[in-house]
Amino acid sequence: MRLAGKRVLLIVSGGIAAYKIPELVRLLRGEGAEVRCVLTAAGAKFVTPLVLQTLSGHPVGEDLFPLGGEAEIGHIQLSRAADVLLVAPATADLLARMACGLGNDLASAVLLATDKPVLVAPAMNVRMWQHPATQANVATLRARGIGVIGPESGPMACNEFGPGRMSEPEALLAALVALLAPAPGPLAGRHVLVTSGPTHEPIDPVRYLANRSSGRQGHAVAAALAALGARVTLVSGPVALADPEGMAVRHVETAEQMLAACLEALPADAAVCAAAVADWRVAEIAAGKLKKQPGAAAPRLELVANPDILATLAAPGRNRPRLVVGFAAETADLLAHAEAKRRQKQADWIVANDVGGGSGIMGGTENEIHLLTAAGVEHWPRLAKEEVARRLALRIAQALAAT
Ligand SMILES: Cc1cc2nc3c(=O)[nH]c(=O)nc-3n(C[C@H](O)[C@H](O)[C@H](O)COP(=O)(O)O)c2cc1C
Repeated sequence: MRLAGKRVLLIVSGGIAAYKIPELVRLLRGEGAEVRCVLTAAGAKFVTPLVLQTLSGHPVGEDLFPLGGEAEIGHIQLSRAADVLLVAPATADLLARMACGLGNDLASAVLLATDKPVLVAPAMNVRMWQHPATQANVATLRARGIGVIGPESGPMACNEFGPGRMSEPEALLAALVALLAPAPGPLAGRHVLVTSGPTHEPIDPVRYLANRSSGRQGHAVAAALAALGARVTLVSGPVALADPEGMAVRHVETAEQMLAACLEALPADAAVCAAAVADWRVAEIAAGKLKKQPGAAAPRLELVANPDILATLAAPGRNRPRLVVGFAAETADLLAHAEAKRRQKQADWIVANDVGGGSGIMGGTENEIHLLTAAGVEHWPRLAKEEVARRLALRIAQALAAT
């Protein structure tokens, strides 16, 4: 009974996948959840209110203006009396109404009026899902903190194949359990600071110095730590990745901004500095775009050193995290440079990887690392960055448990 005492408001919109919702209601009640359902007019074409009412044990909300007066199951009351709102299936149309902030029926009005966590399980034809309008609406909803479950790929009711199938009721149940009753992981109660991605150091208003870091490894480490129950603060440079769910994310551009965000996030039990921070920045940022003048020499950029974030966080002091982990990306003499970095910067561990030409590691999906600690060097096989992250998070959990 993992959801005992939890109140789920299930909003069912008009997609063919609504036929799976009675099964979801049954599963939720089996876990002890109290389930109330709201059905859109289109949703009622696919599943009857009588089925949902019978399985949930509560009247089903369908009308924004019920004849019996709003007091019974009004839109504000429905939101108040829930711990979470799940929209399943979420039609393209309802996602669009949510993204636009419309409240022209009971489902959209409840979603607009709520301050509770909202999860959506999109379900639609593959081209509806891939349409730029739907993708933009989903991106808007994600940016507002709404959790998106699925959709899955596979054969569809419309005889097509591709992404658009609603996630199965078991997966929706698992998402609700993860949100409402997360298992206490080995990092529960710990705060971990993670940096990720490159930094951009401006030259003028349109140009900057950067590097090839994608942020994949740092973001994966942040997600793996959160999956073990840690409270994670992710300080991210400019990346093309979605914010991982379930953590505080601070977006920065420059090394100086990254350091400030890190110091603000302290105290932390551990810090993982996976960001590829620019060593130098341009001494004087031009106020206007540097112009190419016919016959004139190319401009000379004077660089100055950026603050060293790893060394700053690892320096002894009251606010030093108990475990400070740095990353070293090298193209030659990997282990010697990495061990020198560990000692000079007073980091506890260094995750070293060879990013030489042809390794495909910087910006790629896999990583082959060496973990340098005071006890020596471990060589890990080439693994997906998510798996490197999972193993590293477990090691961090063990190290914090031992201190
Ligand atoms: C047979 C049939 C199946 C449909 N299946 C879906 C679907 O899976 N996903 C979707 O986004 N829209 C689907 N639609 C279109 C929606 O029902 C329609 O956009 C409706 O206005 C959605 O209203 P609602 O968002 O208020 O439920 C389907 C329509 C029909 C006639």
